Amino acid sequence: MFGRDAQGSATLGGLSVDEILATARCGTPAYLYDVDAIRAGARDLVQSFGSAPHLVAYAVKANSAAPILRALFAEGCGADVVSGGELALVLEAGLPPNRIVFSGVAKRDDEIDRALSAGPAGIHAVQAESVEEIVRIGARARALGRRARISLRINPGVSVDTHAHVATGHDEAKFGIARGDVADAYAAIDAHRELELVGLSSHIGSMQTAIEPYLASAGVLFDLVRGREVGRRPLEFVDAGGGFGIDYGADCPVTPPAFVRALLEAERQAGVSHLQTVIEPGRSLVGPFGLLAATVLQAKVSRSTGRRWLMIDAGMNDLIRPALYQARHRIESAHRENGGATSSYRVVGPICESSDDFGEHQLSTDPVPSVVVIRDAGAYGFTMACNYNGRPLPAEVFIAEGRVASVAPRGDTAAWIASRLRA
Ligand code: LLP
Repeated sequence: MFGRDAQGSATLGGLSVDEILATARCGTPAYLYDVDAIRAGARDLVQSFGSAPHLVAYAVKANSAAPILRALFAEGCGADVVSGGELALVLEAGLPPNRIVFSGVAKRDDEIDRALSAGPAGIHAVQAESVEEIVRIGARARALGRRARISLRINPGVSVDTHAHVATGHDEAKFGIARGDVADAYAAIDAHRELELVGLSSHIGSMQTAIEPYLASAGVLFDLVRGREVGRRPLEFVDAGGGFGIDYGADCPVTPPAFVRALLEAERQAGVSHLQTVIEPGRSLVGPFGLLAATVLQAKVSRSTGRRWLMIDAGMNDLIRPALYQARHRIESAHRENGGATSSYRVVGPICESSDDFGEHQLSTDPVPSVVVIRDAGAYGFTMACNYNGRPLPAEVFIAEGRVASVAPRGDTAAWIASRLRA
């Protein structure tokens, strides 16, 4: 976890940020992750299921670094993947196919093939998001001579109070099968011998801070389960999706285990406790346990207006959340703030875009920080990073058992140049 030591220096996993950067010798910008804290959080979440059958399908898109995947898989998590690349990655990392669900609004044929061909029986479920996709999965299964375990991602028509870019369960969203189309979806499944409906799922959006919409969405699934099971083989699972919010400094009243306990209780009341409960958390398992360390390049102060900018060596190519979602991450000095004068700085990166801006932060003026940490950057940080402006991808440092356990160096500029010269 993030903290401060007796000298007032910022720490992660019990080590000072300075010490981590000096040991890792990776320069900045660098993502630092507390792998032990990630493990502990995952353990708590898995344990919150008690004896109820479950699969915590970690949404790999949040952070796909191998040390983090291995830690989560060791704690009993499976994976929710959204591309052939993520699917191949988790298989390569040793996850059994029957612990993988494949979401995604429009999958390519080769991605479907990969999912159906994994292991003896394919993955746990390909989550179909349209009647058209059901037909395509059926065709691929027939072509491969395989059976396909599929679930339907239902659009429950539930809105969440979150940023519009990450709300997915309302009626206009491109995601999922509308409730009114479910009968057609069942008909498409029943028309293909190769297809076996094993579950129903939903995911209404990310950064949820209240339980009620999550339960409302799950309630839609429970009703559909009861309807579908009449006179048929029971389904295997219900997947309520991910989306548990975290505390970016503005508080988040509900913990992931609290979401789970409420979900299990709702299942009991709805009479669907015979099913395996699948959830797809991403952000909450990794977000709070990573930070982005950046070196301050200069403080720019306008002589005429007095405006102050703190210019750092991390930009929107390294962490795009503020630019894309107006997200606010806490930014602090990596060193002791001596309790002296502070001022409001606009913390900005080096990229040629006005949106390369991490917001207004109160930081010391004497001394001006030399290294800053951007907190709660463990999720949707590195995975959304890119080479814009010819910048290398940031380094990643993994802290475990009180030491720097492994380092992924910064991207290589020579390799980037070669990639641009390849045609
Ligand atoms: N399942 C599905 C089908 C999803 O689309 C997502 C996230 C998740 C699970 C995991 O949601 P989580 O537990 O992480 O909230 N880049 C944005 C978030 C995009 C979320 C996309 N889907 C951000 O940085 O806020």
